[in-house]
Amino acid sequence: MARRSRHPIMAGNWKMHHNHLEAIQVVQKLSYRLELKDYDECDVVVCPAFTALRSIQTVLDADNIPMKLGAQNCHWKDDGAYTGEVSPPMLAKLNVSHVIVGHSERRQYFGETDETVNLKVKAVLKHAMTPIMCVGESLEEREAGETDVRVDTQTRGGFAGVKAADAAEAVIAYEPIWAIGTGRNATPEDANATIAIIRRTVRELYGAATADAIRILYGGSVKAGNISALMAMPEIDGGLVGGASLDPDEFARVVQYRK
Ligand code: 13P
Repeated sequence: MARRSRHPIMAGNWKMHHNHLEAIQVVQKLSYRLELKDYDECDVVVCPAFTALRSIQTVLDADNIPMKLGAQNCHWKDDGAYTGEVSPPMLAKLNVSHVIVGHSERRQYFGETDETVNLKVKAVLKHAMTPIMCVGESLEEREAGETDVRVDTQTRGGFAGVKAADAAEAVIAYEPIWAIGTGRNATPEDANATIAIIRRTVRELYGAATADAIRILYGGSVKAGNISALMAMPEIDGGLVGGASLDPDEFARVVQYRK
């Protein structure tokens, strides 16, 4: 396979699955399956529920496992009277390096908008963590031919006021909503074409260097059986993996997609 200019990322979004004891087991099994060279070949990120972050941090730390720790959400303020929320500095203190922002489930069920996504993207960057900002169209939008406009608008909205140097460090995940948890992934060609649109938006906002550097993932029914075909596409820089990341054997095979 040709050498890629952008370092791939495979991120597991565990959503509201795995309590901290189960999470520890999954990380231990996953690290047992992976070889050191796998971590060189791509960034491996696990995003457990908040309740498991501390446990996973200590496991990774104690055994020097080069897996990266991600959170699934955060608030945009450093602290304050926001009952039930978790702040970026709290996450940074746990060695969290990545934070998923604006997942479609958060937009759909918890009222997140491009404006709150933007506040969160900036807050995560301010604390030297990497936002994984999610964009993607619904089935109705796709059928109405609105996919390109939708991801363009979400990308512009999410990055409003973000500097070019910061934008290059951020990660975008293209997750068509109709492909999430449905077993129906976008074809590699379709995912590639929409990610090219997102990269074009980044180019318009920040210029070619940032557009060439920023990593854009695909998410939506990624599994061991389809990741190689997705990664063969030039625009796709990795996967944001839901269901298939819950099982360490399956997620290890996703990470080892070159095999
Ligand atoms: P699935 O891989 O279960 O379709 O979920 C995708 C997703 O939402 C990852 O954030």
